[in-house]
Amino acid sequence: MKLLHINASPRGEDSQSLALAGHFISELARGRSVEVDRLDLFQDDLPAFGPLATGAKMALFSGRAQTEAETAAWAAIRTVFDRFAAADIHVFNVPVWNNGIPYVLKQFIDLVTQPGWSFGFDPGTGYTGLMTGRKAVVIHASGVWHEGIGANFGSDFSTPYLQDWLTFIGITDVEHLRIQPTVLNADFAATRAEAWQTATRLAEAA
Ligand SMILES: Cc1cc2nc3c(=O)[nH]c(=O)nc-3n(C[C@H](O)[C@H](O)[C@H](O)COP(=O)(O)O)c2cc1C
Repeated sequence: MKLLHINASPRGEDSQSLALAGHFISELARGRSVEVDRLDLFQDDLPAFGPLATGAKMALFSGRAQTEAETAAWAAIRTVFDRFAAADIHVFNVPVWNNGIPYVLKQFIDLVTQPGWSFGFDPGTGYTGLMTGRKAVVIHASGVWHEGIGANFGSDFSTPYLQDWLTFIGITDVEHLRIQPTVLNADFAATRAEAWQTATRLAEAA
């Protein structure tokens, strides 16, 4: 099994989602052969999706020849996609930031979500995901927000957005694991223990 771990928290040893992802992956690897690749979105130098990348993409759409710089930018983006596509299982650990996902994860999504790579398009029938046959596990952490909390305590646009994106690219076998709330919590030890037990169960069943 080839596993790509995508870490979207910059907080290192303080990150609750990263710690839970580490626990899940080590439980998953128990008695199984799992090859783990890890992408640290805040440390690894992701290519920008700026003028060159958009130019390269629109050149493909319009049939215009890419400039040399655009071709180089597109090749660098393809390298990121190839690493993404090489995995059978993707484990994302994602903090909720301002009710959504951290910006580096959106950058990653914009890099790998390309026509002909992760999705197809037909003018008559619409979009088709091309990343079929894979599994994703998304590990969410938030300081305040948790299921059932009142509307004045924020929202979680991260879960529906990531679920929608994974479905869009053809990954339909998706599990969501939660460690929430990490800050506004009178008994975080209990929350953490429950999240770790759930992760163990999920790894055993995978
Ligand atoms: C920039 C930033 C924005 C945040 N926004 C939210 C938020 O909207 N809702 C929330 O519940 N917690 C928010 N938090 C708290 C984090 O979600 C919380 O610290 C969580 O544990 C982060 O995950 P990590 O421990 O894996 O880094 C925010 C934290 C940061 C640094």
